[in-house]
Amino acid sequence: MRTQVGIIGSGPSGLLLARLLQLQGIDTVIVESRSREYVAGRIRAGVIEQGMADLLREARAGERMDREGLIHEGINIAFDGRLERIDFPKHTNGKVVMVYGQTEITHDLMKAHIDEAGGIVYYEASAVRVDDYDTKSPRIIYERNGQQKELVCDFVAGCDGFHGVARRSIPNNKITTFERTYPFGWLGILSDVPPVKDELIYANHERGFALCSMRSHTRSRYYVQCEIDDKVENWTDDAFWEELCRRLPPDAAENVTTGPRLEMSITPLHSFVAEPMRFGRLFLAGDAAHIVPPTGAKGLNLAASDIYYLSRALLAYYKDKRSSPVDKRSTPQSGSVDKRTDLLDRYSETALRRVWKAIRFSWWYTSLLHKFDDDPLSRRLQISELDYLTSSDAGRTMIAENYVGLPYEKFE
Ligand code: FAD
Ligand code: PHB
Repeated sequence: MRTQVGIIGSGPSGLLLARLLQLQGIDTVIVESRSREYVAGRIRAGVIEQGMADLLREARAGERMDREGLIHEGINIAFDGRLERIDFPKHTNGKVVMVYGQTEITHDLMKAHIDEAGGIVYYEASAVRVDDYDTKSPRIIYERNGQQKELVCDFVAGCDGFHGVARRSIPNNKITTFERTYPFGWLGILSDVPPVKDELIYANHERGFALCSMRSHTRSRYYVQCEIDDKVENWTDDAFWEELCRRLPPDAAENVTTGPRLEMSITPLHSFVAEPMRFGRLFLAGDAAHIVPPTGAKGLNLAASDIYYLSRALLAYYKDKRSSPVDKRSTPQSGSVDKRTDLLDRYSETALRRVWKAIRFSWWYTSLLHKFDDDPLSRRLQISELDYLTSSDAGRTMIAENYVGLPYEKFE
């Protein structure tokens, strides 16, 4: 079996890439190890930057987001008994974010790509490895219905998340990784109760970090920092709500509506980057190449910016191929740029420039808001930094412009 772009993984990055290419007449096949129901049911991120929202509109999968998503013009930071609001439009020339769940985005992309346009996804098909990635015919080796099969491609996109096989198909000496594990996790609850406030609250508290988020006017998502080895079984709903309220300023805590959990889970916090993100004709995107702690709401948005760069690069390749024959361009003059492949050649460096800035922001914002130890000096330094940042225009601008998302580089 052969396709133009073989994609491993049908999370947001794989589905978005497939859909953007489909709209340009480029064939893809996605190989996904889980079932469609499992992928559609995963509860993850909730804050979408404007760049990602625009990309979903370009993919013609943004209609429901525009109808049902909540536009947020700011966030609140709670510390030392205070609640300070960061106004996004004021500090970023009018930018905002959209609150709309990853679960909904996945649903919308599946509907547009698979149900309405007939895009091919093999569910319950596990990729085993990528072979021949440094030749013109890379192959995805996968297992489906107990049989080993192969998919021959022009290009392979490794969109298979942190635990996927694409990155692991590369020999260790060709890849450099950077990693940090944080000494705590996030315990999250999803519940059908109205949100405590109309915008998110990020709380620094002496008992640990807390976050009040939402999925709609009637569905809330809350998190509290927990021990790294804590277990969901250790928490009743009542214990969760009590701990959340203790970490919020009294005005906010009084407004919390409690209810039974729809879901409760624990997420570990990591920073991770693999460099480069391109190996011959294998391209890594999203969590396959990098992980951020969720504090800055950047994981999903970084997956989207990778796909922005990768889709542009593949469109330049296939579109130019249509308008100018390959052989005329296959041996560029020295110093000249091959317009067919230059974006593919620059993909890793371009994507990584934005990735590293989000890695930095997520690490910094995590360090500012979480309890790392019992050292009173560390705590006073955090409070003093928050006091400084929120009393300075430059400080507020720095938080706002990173939170709404740094711009994508544009290509002609
Ligand atoms: P994924 O969504 O991980 O998709 C990868 C896909 O590849 C999966 O469907 C997987 O089943 C499939 N796959 C894996 N291995 C194989 C294989 N061998 N063969 C075939 N298919 C394979 N980000 C935020 O911004 N805010 C949050 O609150 C937040 N919460 C999170 C909570 C959890 C528990 C996790 C894991 C992540 C969270 N993130 C959050 C991060 C965000 O969800 C991810 O950055 C985003 O899902 C990345 O999308 P992706 O498509 O690159 O990877
Ligand atoms: C969420 O709604 O799940 C969410 C929001 C903001 C974050 C992390 C998670 O920073």
